[in-house]
Amino acid sequence: MPTLIGSIPTTQADDLELAKRILNGQENLSSSISVLQKSLEGIFKSKEMYLFNRGREALYFALKTLGINPNDEVIIQAMTCVAVITPILWLNARPVYVDINENDFNIDVTDLEKKITSKTRAIVVQHTFGNISNMKKISEIARKHNIYIIEDCAHLFYTDYSKTDINKYSDISFFSFAQDKGISAVQGGLVVVNNPQFKKIAMDLYLNIEDQNPKQALYNAKYIQLWSMIKKYYFTPILPFQKRITLGKALVMIFRKLGMIKQQATSSVEETPIMNRISDVQSALLLNQLKKCDYINNRREELVNIYNEKLSLEIANKTNTKHLLRYPILLQNPILVMKALQNRQYICGRWYNTMVFPMHENLDKVGYVSGSCPKAEVLVKSILNLPTNIDLEDDEAIEIAKIVNENGKSFKFSN
Ligand SMILES: Cc1ncc(COP(=O)(O)O)c(C=O)c1O
Repeated sequence: MPTLIGSIPTTQADDLELAKRILNGQENLSSSISVLQKSLEGIFKSKEMYLFNRGREALYFALKTLGINPNDEVIIQAMTCVAVITPILWLNARPVYVDINENDFNIDVTDLEKKITSKTRAIVVQHTFGNISNMKKISEIARKHNIYIIEDCAHLFYTDYSKTDINKYSDISFFSFAQDKGISAVQGGLVVVNNPQFKKIAMDLYLNIEDQNPKQALYNAKYIQLWSMIKKYYFTPILPFQKRITLGKALVMIFRKLGMIKQQATSSVEETPIMNRISDVQSALLLNQLKKCDYINNRREELVNIYNEKLSLEIANKTNTKHLLRYPILLQNPILVMKALQNRQYICGRWYNTMVFPMHENLDKVGYVSGSCPKAEVLVKSILNLPTNIDLEDDEAIEIAKIVNENGKSFKFSN
């Protein structure tokens, strides 16, 4: 089976079986949402929690709960996903971009202080790839300027946060269960309200949020079924004597055209605000993943250890983070290495090879001022993500490291 970093990398045979049972009407879904809520209450120690169709809808809810108004400035880091900017724009608020650190790709606290103005109302703190941001320092800055903090935990999910700074310093945290996230329901989002001041506001706001229609909910189970098929044929050539045109790629095109599978983020900003609750189908899929969450994170840790050990010293990741959603490296020639890996059926990724992924043009439309985050502008050109997919075997990770070492030219960041 080829390795594809982007689509359902945490989905295994049991998830596929569950998706099929759901599609055949053989799964009783009546209590899946309440069981999921109970399980999450155990993890988040009964803090206020709200479940959504997608992570960006959870962020929209968080911004609304904090009372963000048109023209308010919301700080976010450069090198992020368009899904993070979209809800800020839905509120007609202004995204303000802060530069990043070259090691963990998280917000640079020195630049953060410089970008705060009298109009700044909130900071969205992204834990990029699972690297946890310096929450203590950020909260000191936020307190000094009377600014709210929203934690973007889209790149990590644990069953125990007690030994981390997650959920401790922010007003609200949000999570994503999208197709390429830590655990996945194909789509899904969660808000955890950490500051009791916002409990009642959030509760009232959630009362008005609508359920999805049943057809929309089934999309997630269907996606798993379709992508499992695509994966099987991803590298099967349609015509003899060539490798480029494959059955899997043709299926992706057809299913996308028919709207049966959607890209999670595109280069255009979604215009219309939307906020739906999570469905029973997503909840059932997510519960199955939640059972495997520790196993998935442990496997990520094993793969990260292999990359750390086998990649050359100049190329290996410089953080101590073990549960990396993707293993980021910096190279002078990321595209060449990506192609070399693809020839061995390893599809890697490039989160985020632009300031607001996957937008490569018209960044002014999402409020990015060219030159305002110089470090990020350099780093986006060199980034490559190696897979930490759970089904990746040890010897495959070793082979990936070998290909990278043989083909990659290490990139050294200099100011
Ligand atoms: C850092 C980050 N935050 C938030 C999101 C939004 O997640 P969703 O796709 O569930 O809306 C994404 C999506 O890729 C992301 O990468």
